[in-house]
Amino acid sequence: MKYTDINAKKWDEWSKEKWIWTVPITQDQYQEALNGSIKVYLTPQIPVPEEWFSNIRNKKILGLASGGGQQGPIFAANGADVTILDYSDAQLNAERIVAEREGYQINLVKADMSERLPFDDETFDMIFHPVSNTYIQDIMPLWKECYRVLKKGGHLLAGFTNPDIYLFDEELKVVNRLPYDPLANFNEEERQEVIKNEGLQFSHSFETQIGGQLKAGFKLVDLYEDKGTDDLSNYMSTFIATRAEK
Ligand SMILES: C[S@@+](CC[C@H](N)C(=O)[O-])C[C@H]1O[C@@H](n2cnc3c(N)ncnc32)[C@H](O)[C@@H]1O
Repeated sequence: MKYTDINAKKWDEWSKEKWIWTVPITQDQYQEALNGSIKVYLTPQIPVPEEWFSNIRNKKILGLASGGGQQGPIFAANGADVTILDYSDAQLNAERIVAEREGYQINLVKADMSERLPFDDETFDMIFHPVSNTYIQDIMPLWKECYRVLKKGGHLLAGFTNPDIYLFDEELKVVNRLPYDPLANFNEEERQEVIKNEGLQFSHSFETQIGGQLKAGFKLVDLYEDKGTDDLSNYMSTFIATRAEK
């Protein structure tokens, strides 16, 4: 089994357990979006600044690894033509449930973002990529794919973890070297233990996250930092969101 299949199954499990990133927005939240608000998240707590969006009506938006019925419905309510790519059946199903409940069209694509994206060159006006590339081992090919499927002048909005969070255990003791990569660096027993708890995650680095986008050809336009609700977030910013232009 590919490691990405293991992670997709983890997301199916977390969806059954109703983990926060699998619970679709409510009808009231959808109604607010119909009234013109665009409250979407690339990182846990701070909504993406509305000035990061130009008019999205009729724009083609790819929600990349963005299933769960949280961000896609908000874009759909604001008149965008939305495609959601995800590798978890349960996360795609959550999108389907919201679309049927609210009566809008959405394109759902089951695919593994570590592979070539199943879209033609220059298909999308915007890619919205909430924190998720921590579930793939090599992100450079993904940044290149994002560049390929975006139209010229299009924007890539991406959220990702601060790599430093992978240094620590829950007691905030330093227990890992970076880059954190349980596929490359753990023995089978250790690997099975992390799979049970958090799936296969990879820390990456600022060089591969921000530098990788620049190497793929993007121009960085803006960024902000955010925190989670975990203990470490009392001490440092644990997430970053970037806006980049093709
Ligand atoms: C933190 S969630 C992001 C979606 C969440 N609903 C949100 O809007 O923030 C991470 C998502 O990445 C997806 N994912 C993980 N590995 C993937 C892969 N290799 N290819 C595509 N999607 C993947 C998961 O299924 C999950 O839906």
